[in-house]
Amino acid sequence: MDEYVKLIYKEKTYEFPVIIGSEGEKAIDISQLLKETGLTTVDPGFANTSSCISAITYIDDEKGILRYRGIPIEQLAEQSSFVETAYLLINGKLPTQNELTSFSVMLNDQSLVHEDMQFFFQKFPRSSPPMGILSSMVTALRSFYPELQTIEEEINRTVTRLLSKVRTLAAMSYKFSRGHKVVYPRQDLSYCANFLNMMFHSPVRSYKIDEDIVKSLNAFWVLHADHEQNCSTSTVRMVGSGRANLYASISAGIAALWSPLHGGANQAVIEMLSGLREQGGKVSQLIERAKDKNDPFRLMGFGHRVYKTYDPRAKIMKKIGDQILKKLSATDPLLDLAVELETVALNDDYFIDHNLYPNFDFYSGIVLRAIGIPTNMFTVMFAIGRLPGWIAQWKEGFDNPKWKLSRPRQVYIGPSETRYIPIADR
Ligand code: CMC
Repeated sequence: MDEYVKLIYKEKTYEFPVIIGSEGEKAIDISQLLKETGLTTVDPGFANTSSCISAITYIDDEKGILRYRGIPIEQLAEQSSFVETAYLLINGKLPTQNELTSFSVMLNDQSLVHEDMQFFFQKFPRSSPPMGILSSMVTALRSFYPELQTIEEEINRTVTRLLSKVRTLAAMSYKFSRGHKVVYPRQDLSYCANFLNMMFHSPVRSYKIDEDIVKSLNAFWVLHADHEQNCSTSTVRMVGSGRANLYASISAGIAALWSPLHGGANQAVIEMLSGLREQGGKVSQLIERAKDKNDPFRLMGFGHRVYKTYDPRAKIMKKIGDQILKKLSATDPLLDLAVELETVALNDDYFIDHNLYPNFDFYSGIVLRAIGIPTNMFTVMFAIGRLPGWIAQWKEGFDNPKWKLSRPRQVYIGPSETRYIPIADR
Protein backbone atom coordinates (compact mmCIF):
# COMPACT_ATOMS: atom_id res chain seq x y z
CA MET A 1 0.00 0.00 0.00
CA ASP A 2 1.34 3.45 -0.89
CA GLU A 3 2.33 5.55 2.12
CA TYR A 4 1.88 9.28 2.53
CA VAL A 5 2.93 11.87 5.08
CA LYS A 6 0.44 14.57 5.99
CA LEU A 7 1.51 18.14 6.62
CA ILE A 8 -0.96 20.52 8.21
CA TYR A 9 -0.10 24.14 7.56
CA LYS A 10 -2.42 27.11 8.03
CA GLU A 11 -5.33 24.72 8.51
CA LYS A 12 -4.79 23.08 5.14
CA THR A 13 -3.64 19.45 4.83
CA TYR A 14 -1.05 18.44 2.26
CA GLU A 15 0.00 14.90 1.43
CA PHE A 16 3.48 13.89 0.37
CA PRO A 17 4.32 10.40 -0.90
CA VAL A 18 6.81 8.18 0.93
CA ILE A 19 9.42 6.60 -1.32
CA ILE A 20 10.63 3.16 -0.21
CA GLY A 21 14.13 1.99 -1.15
CA SER A 22 15.00 -1.59 -2.01
CA GLU A 23 16.26 -2.27 1.54
CA GLY A 24 13.13 -0.77 3.10
CA GLU A 25 14.53 2.69 3.91
CA LYS A 26 11.88 5.39 3.63
CA ALA A 27 12.01 9.03 2.52
CA ILE A 28 9.37 11.71 2.12
CA ASP A 29 9.22 13.02 -1.44
CA ILE A 30 9.00 16.79 -0.94
CA SER A 31 9.71 17.74 -4.54
CA GLN A 32 6.30 19.53 -4.72
CA LEU A 33 6.56 21.13 -1.26
CA LEU A 34 7.53 24.65 -2.36
CA LYS A 35 5.05 24.68 -5.23
CA GLU A 36 2.14 23.49 -3.08
CA THR A 37 2.84 25.19 0.26
CA GLY A 38 5.30 28.04 -0.42
CA LEU A 39 7.62 26.45 2.17
CA THR A 40 11.16 25.14 1.88
CA THR A 41 13.02 22.95 4.39
CA VAL A 42 16.12 23.78 6.42
CA ASP A 43 18.62 20.95 6.86
CA PRO A 44 22.18 22.10 7.67
CA GLY A 45 24.79 19.70 6.30
CA PHE A 46 21.96 17.81 4.52
CA ALA A 47 21.94 15.32 7.39
CA ASN A 48 18.23 14.51 6.77
CA THR A 49 18.17 14.93 3.02
CA SER A 50 18.40 12.28 0.31
CA SER A 51 19.80 14.32 -2.56
CA CYS A 52 19.18 11.61 -5.15
CA ILE A 53 17.80 8.14 -5.76
CA SER A 54 20.70 5.82 -6.47
CA ALA A 55 21.31 2.14 -7.27
CA ILE A 56 25.06 2.17 -6.59
CA THR A 57 25.92 1.85 -2.89
CA TYR A 58 23.95 0.77 0.16
CA ILE A 59 24.86 1.66 3.74
CA ASP A 60 23.07 0.44 6.88
CA ASP A 61 24.26 2.93 9.50
CA GLU A 62 22.90 0.93 12.46
CA LYS A 63 24.20 -2.51 11.49
CA GLY A 64 27.44 -1.25 9.89
CA ILE A 65 26.73 -2.69 6.43
CA LEU A 66 28.30 -1.43 3.20
CA ARG A 67 27.55 -2.93 -0.22
CA TYR A 68 28.48 -1.91 -3.76
CA ARG A 69 25.74 -2.86 -6.25
CA GLY A 70 24.44 -5.26 -3.59
CA ILE A 71 27.76 -7.05 -2.94
CA PRO A 72 29.07 -6.85 0.66
CA ILE A 73 32.29 -4.89 1.04
CA GLU A 74 33.90 -7.78 2.95
CA GLN A 75 33.57 -10.07 -0.11
CA LEU A 76 34.90 -7.46 -2.52
CA ALA A 77 37.89 -6.55 -0.30
CA GLU A 78 38.80 -10.21 -0.01
CA GLN A 79 38.06 -11.53 -3.50
CA SER A 80 37.83 -8.73 -6.04
CA SER A 81 40.43 -6.50 -7.67
CA PHE A 82 40.18 -2.72 -7.63
CA VAL A 83 39.81 -2.72 -11.42
CA GLU A 84 36.95 -5.24 -11.26
CA THR A 85 35.28 -3.26 -8.45
CA ALA A 86 35.60 -0.08 -10.54
CA TYR A 87 33.90 -1.88 -13.44
CA LEU A 88 31.14 -3.09 -11.11
CA LEU A 89 30.45 0.38 -9.72
CA ILE A 90 30.53 2.15 -13.07
CA ASN A 91 28.69 -0.44 -15.18
CA GLY A 92 26.34 -1.84 -12.55
CA LYS A 93 27.39 -5.49 -12.85
CA LEU A 94 30.43 -7.72 -12.41
CA PRO A 95 32.32 -8.07 -15.70
CA THR A 96 32.75 -11.32 -17.60
CA GLN A 97 36.35 -12.41 -18.14
CA ASN A 98 36.33 -10.83 -21.64
CA GLU A 99 34.88 -7.58 -20.36
CA LEU A 100 37.42 -7.40 -17.56
CA THR A 101 40.28 -8.12 -19.96
CA SER A 102 39.24 -5.42 -22.40
CA PHE A 103 38.67 -2.93 -19.55
CA SER A 104 42.17 -3.69 -18.23
CA VAL A 105 43.66 -3.31 -21.72
CA MET A 106 41.96 0.10 -22.07
CA LEU A 107 43.34 1.16 -18.68
CA ASN A 108 46.78 0.07 -19.74
CA ASP A 109 46.53 1.89 -23.09
CA GLN A 110 45.52 5.09 -21.30
CA SER A 111 48.14 5.01 -18.58
CA LEU A 112 50.62 7.47 -20.10
CA VAL A 113 50.06 11.19 -19.73
CA HIS A 114 51.03 13.78 -22.31
CA GLU A 115 54.73 14.58 -21.92
CA ASP A 116 53.96 18.31 -21.80
CA MET A 117 52.15 17.79 -18.51
CA GLN A 118 55.56 17.36 -16.93
CA PHE A 119 56.16 21.10 -17.43
CA PHE A 120 53.31 21.83 -15.04
CA PHE A 121 54.90 19.68 -12.37
CA GLN A 122 58.24 21.41 -12.81
CA LYS A 123 56.71 24.82 -12.11
CA PHE A 124 54.93 23.87 -8.90
CA PRO A 125 56.98 24.63 -5.77
CA ARG A 126 58.41 21.36 -4.42
CA SER A 127 56.49 21.81 -1.18
CA SER A 128 53.09 22.10 -2.92
CA PRO A 129 50.29 20.07 -1.33
CA PRO A 130 49.78 17.01 -3.57
CA MET A 131 45.97 17.30 -3.51
CA GLY A 132 46.14 20.83 -4.93
CA ILE A 133 48.44 19.60 -7.70
CA LEU A 134 46.19 16.62 -8.45
CA SER A 135 43.05 18.74 -8.69
CA SER A 136 44.78 21.19 -11.07
CA MET A 137 46.21 18.37 -13.18
CA VAL A 138 42.83 16.70 -13.61
CA THR A 139 41.35 19.99 -14.84
CA ALA A 140 44.33 20.36 -17.18
CA LEU A 141 43.67 16.89 -18.65
CA ARG A 142 40.62 18.32 -20.45
CA SER A 143 42.89 20.63 -22.47
CA PHE A 144 45.10 17.74 -23.51
CA TYR A 145 42.21 15.42 -24.36
CA PRO A 146 39.46 17.49 -26.01
CA GLU A 147 35.89 16.29 -26.39
CA LEU A 148 35.31 13.31 -28.69
CA GLN A 149 32.69 12.99 -31.42
CA THR A 150 30.00 10.92 -29.72
CA ILE A 151 28.82 11.15 -26.12
CA GLU A 152 29.27 7.40 -25.66
CA GLU A 153 32.85 7.45 -26.95
CA GLU A 154 33.59 10.55 -24.87
CA ILE A 155 32.31 8.97 -21.66
CA ASN A 156 33.93 5.54 -22.16
CA ARG A 157 37.27 7.06 -23.07
CA THR A 158 37.17 9.66 -20.29
CA VAL A 159 36.29 7.04 -17.67
CA THR A 160 39.31 4.86 -18.49
CA ARG A 161 41.55 7.89 -19.00
CA LEU A 162 40.76 9.23 -15.56
CA LEU A 163 41.07 5.88 -13.79
CA SER A 164 44.42 5.25 -15.39
CA LYS A 165 45.98 8.71 -15.66
CA VAL A 166 45.09 9.93 -12.16
CA ARG A 167 47.14 7.02 -10.82
CA THR A 168 50.06 7.98 -13.10
CA LEU A 169 49.76 11.66 -12.15
CA ALA A 170 49.75 10.81 -8.44
CA ALA A 171 52.99 8.81 -8.75
CA MET A 172 54.52 11.56 -10.91
CA SER A 173 53.71 14.19 -8.30
CA TYR A 174 55.56 12.12 -5.71
CA LYS A 175 58.63 11.78 -7.93
CA PHE A 176 58.64 15.51 -8.67
CA SER A 177 58.27 16.37 -4.99
CA ARG A 178 61.48 14.40 -4.36
CA GLY A 179 63.24 15.80 -7.42
CA HIS A 180 63.49 12.31 -8.91
CA LYS A 181 63.07 11.01 -12.44
CA VAL A 182 59.54 9.98 -13.39
CA VAL A 183 58.93 6.22 -13.75
CA TYR A 184 56.61 5.29 -16.61
CA PRO A 185 53.79 2.75 -16.29
CA ARG A 186 54.53 -0.80 -17.42
CA GLN A 187 52.14 -2.90 -19.46
CA ASP A 188 53.10 -6.16 -17.69
CA LEU A 189 52.00 -4.97 -14.24
CA SER A 190 48.57 -4.93 -12.62
CA TYR A 191 46.90 -1.63 -11.71
CA CYS A 192 48.12 -1.66 -8.09
CA ALA A 193 51.58 -3.10 -8.81
CA ASN A 194 52.06 -0.51 -11.54
CA PHE A 195 51.33 2.29 -9.12
CA LEU A 196 53.76 0.96 -6.52
CA ASN A 197 56.45 0.58 -9.18
CA MET A 198 55.90 4.14 -10.47
CA MET A 199 56.20 5.40 -6.89
CA PHE A 200 59.15 3.43 -5.63
CA HIS A 201 61.26 2.20 -8.52
CA SER A 202 64.40 4.23 -9.17
CA PRO A 203 67.39 3.94 -11.51
CA VAL A 204 69.59 3.04 -8.52
CA ARG A 205 67.20 0.70 -6.74
CA SER A 206 64.76 -1.63 -8.47
CA TYR A 207 61.43 -1.96 -6.74
CA LYS A 208 60.61 -5.56 -5.96
CA ILE A 209 56.89 -6.19 -6.28
CA ASP A 210 55.57 -7.93 -3.18
CA GLU A 211 52.21 -9.60 -3.80
CA ASP A 212 51.08 -9.15 -0.17
CA ILE A 213 51.68 -5.41 -0.39
CA VAL A 214 49.84 -5.32 -3.72
CA LYS A 215 46.95 -7.18 -2.06
CA SER A 216 46.81 -4.70 0.82
CA LEU A 217 46.79 -1.71 -1.52
CA ASN A 218 44.13 -3.41 -3.63
CA ALA A 219 41.91 -3.87 -0.55
CA PHE A 220 42.57 -0.28 0.56
CA TRP A 221 41.35 1.03 -2.80
CA VAL A 222 38.38 -1.38 -2.97
CA LEU A 223 37.25 -0.21 0.48
CA HIS A 224 37.51 3.42 -0.64
CA ALA A 225 35.81 2.97 -4.01
CA ASP A 226 32.42 4.45 -3.07
CA HIS A 227 30.55 5.66 -0.03
CA GLU A 228 27.35 7.08 -1.49
CA GLN A 229 26.55 10.80 -1.04
CA ASN A 230 29.53 11.98 1.05
CA CYS A 231 30.95 15.51 0.76
CA SER A 232 33.19 14.95 -2.29
CA THR A 233 30.70 12.72 -4.13
CA SER A 234 27.92 15.24 -3.57
CA THR A 235 30.30 17.87 -4.96
CA VAL A 236 30.93 15.77 -8.08
CA ARG A 237 27.16 15.34 -8.53
CA MET A 238 26.48 19.01 -7.93
CA VAL A 239 29.12 20.23 -10.40
CA GLY A 240 28.04 17.56 -12.89
CA SER A 241 24.38 18.60 -12.58
CA GLY A 242 25.33 21.80 -14.42
CA ARG A 243 26.44 19.39 -17.21
CA ALA A 244 30.10 20.12 -16.46
CA ASN A 245 32.45 17.64 -18.09
CA LEU A 246 33.76 14.69 -16.11
CA TYR A 247 37.27 16.19 -15.68
CA ALA A 248 35.87 19.39 -14.12
CA SER A 249 33.48 17.43 -11.90
CA ILE A 250 36.20 15.06 -10.66
CA SER A 251 38.61 17.93 -10.09
CA ALA A 252 35.97 19.57 -7.88
CA GLY A 253 35.54 16.27 -6.02
CA ILE A 254 39.29 16.13 -5.36
CA ALA A 255 39.17 19.67 -3.97
CA ALA A 256 36.29 18.70 -1.66
CA LEU A 257 38.18 15.63 -0.48
CA TRP A 258 41.16 17.80 0.42
CA SER A 259 39.74 18.60 3.86
CA PRO A 260 40.55 17.43 7.41
CA LEU A 261 37.01 16.34 8.27
CA HIS A 262 36.64 14.31 5.08
CA GLY A 263 39.56 13.00 3.00
CA GLY A 264 42.35 14.47 5.08
CA ALA A 265 41.39 12.54 8.21
CA ASN A 266 43.78 9.62 7.46
CA GLN A 267 46.73 12.04 7.44
CA ALA A 268 45.36 13.85 10.50
CA VAL A 269 45.18 10.53 12.41
CA ILE A 270 48.88 9.81 11.82
CA GLU A 271 49.81 13.38 12.77
CA MET A 272 47.70 13.10 15.93
CA LEU A 273 49.27 9.73 16.89
CA SER A 274 52.80 11.03 16.14
CA GLY A 275 52.15 14.12 18.28
CA LEU A 276 50.80 11.90 21.06
CA ARG A 277 53.92 9.75 20.94
CA GLU A 278 56.26 12.74 21.02
CA GLN A 279 54.47 14.03 24.09
CA GLY A 280 54.92 10.79 25.99
CA GLY A 281 51.88 8.83 24.77
CA LYS A 282 49.36 10.05 27.37
CA VAL A 283 46.19 8.64 25.80
CA SER A 284 43.92 9.77 28.65
CA GLN A 285 44.97 13.41 28.13
CA LEU A 286 44.03 13.24 24.46
CA ILE A 287 40.66 11.72 25.32
CA GLU A 288 39.99 14.50 27.84
CA ARG A 289 40.84 17.12 25.21
CA ALA A 290 38.44 15.50 22.73
CA LYS A 291 35.65 15.67 25.34
CA ASP A 292 36.34 19.28 26.37
CA LYS A 293 33.72 21.52 24.76
CA ASN A 294 36.03 24.53 25.12
CA ASP A 295 38.71 22.84 23.04
CA PRO A 296 38.09 22.60 19.27
CA PHE A 297 40.22 19.41 19.17
CA ARG A 298 38.47 16.24 17.95
CA LEU A 299 39.73 12.71 18.06
CA MET A 300 40.68 12.22 14.43
CA GLY A 301 39.53 8.92 12.93
CA PHE A 302 36.55 8.77 15.28
CA GLY A 303 32.92 9.43 14.45
CA HIS A 304 31.05 9.36 11.20
CA ARG A 305 28.14 11.31 9.80
CA VAL A 306 26.38 8.12 8.76
CA TYR A 307 27.62 5.15 10.82
CA LYS A 308 26.38 5.02 14.37
CA THR A 309 28.31 1.82 14.94
CA TYR A 310 31.75 0.46 13.99
CA ASP A 311 32.63 1.42 10.40
CA PRO A 312 32.72 -1.98 8.57
CA ARG A 313 35.73 -0.80 6.56
CA ALA A 314 37.70 -0.04 9.75
CA LYS A 315 37.45 -3.70 10.86
CA ILE A 316 38.89 -4.93 7.55
CA MET A 317 41.60 -2.25 7.53
CA LYS A 318 42.70 -3.11 11.06
CA LYS A 319 43.06 -6.78 10.08
CA ILE A 320 45.06 -5.86 6.97
CA GLY A 321 47.27 -3.55 9.08
CA ASP A 322 48.05 -6.40 11.49
CA GLN A 323 48.79 -8.80 8.60
CA ILE A 324 51.03 -6.44 6.67
CA LEU A 325 53.07 -5.46 9.73
CA LYS A 326 53.48 -9.14 10.59
CA LYS A 327 54.53 -9.95 7.04
CA LEU A 328 57.08 -7.12 7.01
CA SER A 329 58.22 -8.25 10.46
CA ALA A 330 57.73 -4.65 11.40
CA THR A 331 56.21 -2.98 14.39
CA ASP A 332 54.67 0.41 14.32
CA PRO A 333 54.53 2.19 17.67
CA LEU A 334 51.70 4.26 16.25
CA LEU A 335 49.62 1.09 15.78
CA ASP A 336 50.14 0.21 19.44
CA LEU A 337 49.04 3.74 20.40
CA ALA A 338 46.05 3.48 18.05
CA VAL A 339 44.93 0.22 19.69
CA GLU A 340 45.29 1.76 23.16
CA LEU A 341 43.39 4.89 22.11
CA GLU A 342 40.62 2.80 20.59
CA THR A 343 40.26 0.69 23.76
CA VAL A 344 40.10 3.73 26.04
CA ALA A 345 37.65 5.61 23.79
CA LEU A 346 35.33 2.64 23.30
CA ASN A 347 34.99 2.30 27.07
CA ASP A 348 34.48 5.99 27.73
CA ASP A 349 30.92 7.22 28.43
CA TYR A 350 31.31 10.29 26.20
CA PHE A 351 32.22 8.19 23.17
CA ILE A 352 29.56 5.57 23.99
CA ASP A 353 26.81 8.20 24.44
CA HIS A 354 27.79 10.00 21.23
CA ASN A 355 28.03 6.75 19.21
CA LEU A 356 31.62 7.56 18.31
CA TYR A 357 33.49 4.57 16.89
CA PRO A 358 36.74 4.37 14.93
CA ASN A 359 36.18 5.08 11.24
CA PHE A 360 38.09 3.75 8.24
CA ASP A 361 40.73 6.47 8.44
CA PHE A 362 41.72 5.44 11.94
CA TYR A 363 43.52 2.37 10.57
CA SER A 364 44.11 3.14 6.89
CA GLY A 365 47.09 5.43 7.65
CA ILE A 366 48.87 2.57 9.43
CA VAL A 367 48.56 0.41 6.31
CA LEU A 368 49.74 3.23 4.03
CA ARG A 369 52.75 3.86 6.29
CA ALA A 370 53.64 0.17 6.20
CA ILE A 371 53.51 0.22 2.39
CA GLY A 372 55.89 3.21 2.38
CA ILE A 373 53.47 5.95 1.28
CA PRO A 374 54.52 9.34 2.69
CA THR A 375 51.96 10.96 4.97
CA ASN A 376 51.33 13.95 2.69
CA MET A 377 50.22 11.53 -0.07
CA PHE A 378 47.55 9.80 2.05
CA THR A 379 44.64 11.87 0.77
CA VAL A 380 45.83 11.37 -2.80
CA MET A 381 45.63 7.61 -2.14
CA PHE A 382 42.04 8.12 -0.97
CA ALA A 383 41.29 10.12 -4.15
CA ILE A 384 42.57 7.36 -6.46
CA GLY A 385 40.40 4.87 -4.56
CA ARG A 386 37.28 7.07 -4.64
CA LEU A 387 37.51 7.75 -8.39
CA PRO A 388 35.29 4.81 -9.50
CA GLY A 389 32.58 5.97 -7.10
CA TRP A 390 32.73 9.58 -8.26
CA ILE A 391 32.57 8.43 -11.88
CA ALA A 392 29.70 6.00 -11.23
CA GLN A 393 27.71 8.67 -9.37
CA TRP A 394 28.34 11.28 -12.10
CA LYS A 395 27.31 8.74 -14.76
CA GLU A 396 24.15 7.78 -12.89
CA GLY A 397 23.15 11.43 -12.96
CA PHE A 398 24.17 11.85 -16.58
CA ASP A 399 22.20 8.77 -17.68
CA ASN A 400 19.07 10.11 -16.00
CA PRO A 401 17.13 12.26 -18.48
CA LYS A 402 15.53 14.02 -15.49
CA TRP A 403 18.85 15.02 -13.86
CA LYS A 404 18.05 18.39 -12.34
CA LEU A 405 20.48 21.24 -11.86
CA SER A 406 21.42 21.29 -8.15
CA ARG A 407 20.23 24.53 -6.72
CA PRO A 408 19.35 24.50 -2.99
CA ARG A 409 17.36 27.34 -1.45
CA GLN A 410 18.07 29.33 1.71
CA VAL A 411 16.30 31.20 4.47
CA TYR A 412 17.50 34.78 4.29
CA ILE A 413 18.18 36.44 7.67
CA GLY A 414 20.04 39.57 6.51
CA PRO A 415 18.71 43.17 6.64
CA SER A 416 15.52 44.03 4.81
CA GLU A 417 15.63 46.69 2.09
CA THR A 418 18.21 49.32 3.04
CA ARG A 419 18.92 52.58 1.26
CA TYR A 420 22.34 52.95 -0.41
CA ILE A 421 24.37 55.74 1.23
CA PRO A 422 26.94 57.47 -0.98
CA ILE A 423 30.47 57.18 0.43
CA ALA A 424 30.75 60.89 1.24
CA ASP A 425 27.69 60.68 3.53
CA ARG A 426 28.81 57.60 5.54
N1 CMC B 1 35.91 13.61 18.74
C1 CMC B 1 35.21 14.16 19.76
N2 CMC B 1 33.89 14.49 19.67
C2 CMC B 1 33.28 14.24 18.51
C3 CMC B 1 33.94 13.66 17.41
C4 CMC B 1 35.31 13.34 17.57
N3 CMC B 1 35.99 12.79 16.55
N4 CMC B 1 33.07 13.54 16.38
C5 CMC B 1 31.90 14.02 16.82
N5 CMC B 1 32.02 14.46 18.09
C6 CMC B 1 30.96 14.99 18.95
C7 CMC B 1 30.72 16.47 18.68
O1 CMC B 1 31.54 17.28 19.50
C8 CMC B 1 29.26 16.59 19.01
O2 CMC B 1 29.13 16.60 20.40
P1 CMC B 1 27.88 17.39 21.12
O3 CMC B 1 26.63 16.83 20.50
O4 CMC B 1 28.04 17.02 22.58
O5 CMC B 1 28.10 18.83 20.84
C9 CMC B 1 28.67 15.25 18.52
O6 CMC B 1 29.75 14.31 18.60
C10 CMC B 1 28.14 15.30 17.10
O7 CMC B 1 29.12 15.90 16.28
P2 CMC B 1 28.80 16.49 14.83
O8 CMC B 1 29.98 17.27 14.37
O9 CMC B 1 27.48 17.15 14.84
O10 CMC B 1 28.65 15.15 14.02
P3 CMC B 1 28.82 14.97 12.50
O11 CMC B 1 27.99 13.83 12.10
O12 CMC B 1 28.61 16.25 11.76
O13 CMC B 1 30.39 14.64 12.40
C11 CMC B 1 32.45 13.94 11.59
C12 CMC B 1 30.95 13.67 11.63
C13 CMC B 1 33.12 12.82 10.81
C14 CMC B 1 32.72 15.28 10.86
C15 CMC B 1 33.02 14.03 13.04
O14 CMC B 1 32.74 12.83 13.73
C16 CMC B 1 34.52 14.34 13.09
O15 CMC B 1 34.88 15.53 13.03
N6 CMC B 1 35.38 13.30 13.17
C17 CMC B 1 36.82 13.50 13.17
C18 CMC B 1 37.30 13.64 11.73
C19 CMC B 1 37.26 12.32 11.00
O16 CMC B 1 37.71 11.29 11.48
N7 CMC B 1 36.76 12.38 9.76
C20 CMC B 1 36.69 11.21 8.89
C21 CMC B 1 35.29 10.82 8.63
S1 CMC B 1 35.20 9.28 7.77
C22 CMC B 1 35.85 9.66 6.23
C23 CMC B 1 34.84 10.26 5.32
O17 CMC B 1 33.75 9.69 5.15
O18 CMC B 1 35.16 11.27 4.74
